[in-house]
Amino acid sequence: MAAGVRQSPIYLDYNATTPVLPEVRDALLPFLSPHFGNPSSDHPYGRAAAEAVARAREQVAALLGCAADEIVFTSGGSEADNWALVGRIWAAGVAHPHIITTVVEHPAVLNTCRFLERHGVTVTYLPVDGTGQVDPADVRRALRPETVVVSVMHANNEVGTLQPIAEIAAICREAGVPLHTDAAQSVGKVPTRVDDLGVDLLTIAGHKLYAPKGIGALYIRRGTALEPLIHGAGHEGGRRAGTENVPWIVALGAAAALAHATLEREAARQQVLRDRLHRLLVERAGDVTLNGHPTARLPNTLNVRFAGIDGNALLGAVPEVAASTGSACHAGQTEPSAVLLAMGVAPDTAIGAVRLSLGRLTTEDEIDRAAAALAAGAARLRARAGV
Ligand SMILES: Cc1ncc(COP(=O)(O)O)c(C=O)c1O
Repeated sequence: MAAGVRQSPIYLDYNATTPVLPEVRDALLPFLSPHFGNPSSDHPYGRAAAEAVARAREQVAALLGCAADEIVFTSGGSEADNWALVGRIWAAGVAHPHIITTVVEHPAVLNTCRFLERHGVTVTYLPVDGTGQVDPADVRRALRPETVVVSVMHANNEVGTLQPIAEIAAICREAGVPLHTDAAQSVGKVPTRVDDLGVDLLTIAGHKLYAPKGIGALYIRRGTALEPLIHGAGHEGGRRAGTENVPWIVALGAAAALAHATLEREAARQQVLRDRLHRLLVERAGDVTLNGHPTARLPNTLNVRFAGIDGNALLGAVPEVAASTGSACHAGQTEPSAVLLAMGVAPDTAIGAVRLSLGRLTTEDEIDRAAAALAAGAARLRARAGV
């Protein structure tokens, strides 16, 4: 797949996953073979692999503006999220540990918190406002002497809302509590320099930035105490055991380098296309409401709800477009997205939501065709329902 090639159906689900770009694939292939060595081996095969891993670590560190030894590769975003929370509990050694997080986190954080609650940890789930943002003052109020980590996502996967991480970080720093941010959706889409954000732990998921699925990283600020989650031999400086997934690590490095070199230009391009899609839908599909923050939002993400329509039914009626809704279908009943409910959207209108997320391969022609197809689909469904 290359830029400019017409895709069918039109892919507008880049927040779910991204294709592996040709330059990323070309970088990783030699590390399947001939450079198949184990980075721990003390011979030319091993050394070639170890050098490639070191280079990839530098590339990821450059994107985040941190030191290479602050990056540890993981099996993806979920492992990094699990590790940040569980690792802090074990490292803090507090009798009755407390975590602060938000109601709109990804299940990789929320379900880790629920697991920890079953094992004696207390969790505060902070609310969000109508745009999906947390109030930093709520973080300050929720802090306790036993708080061992605060975890607030950088950008929400469904609506794209960006959290005021730097403000939250200042509050956490004053209290001496490490701040973790799940940046799975923001790395590669908006600047994520760790010193600008002020975070101590940051999650990366490779498949959201044009690397393969099953690779990610956790940024760990020097001096942040964190127990390992995966025990074994001394890989990754003794912090994460398991023979390194060299080809996928190389891919993540190449994807990070690409993001680093072109982030601003690509973000601006996608934002123009995203706003064009929004405008076309408002003009042609009638009664369309934005979900999420109007400006503090990922440049590629457009989550809208269509009045009087079920988002899943709409996508079912428009096979020309591959996108998603945040709602789940259980036994023929549509369950509205928990994120939208947390933002105060009424359940009967929340089910009209559709998430359209753009990416590096999205073209203006695709946007125009997608808008036309969605508007026609909405009109058909409304006519059928007599709305
Ligand atoms: C915000 C967020 N966090 C974490 C994850 C999990 O990442 P992975 O799929 O690499 O485990 C995702 C992926 O959907 C995500 O969107």
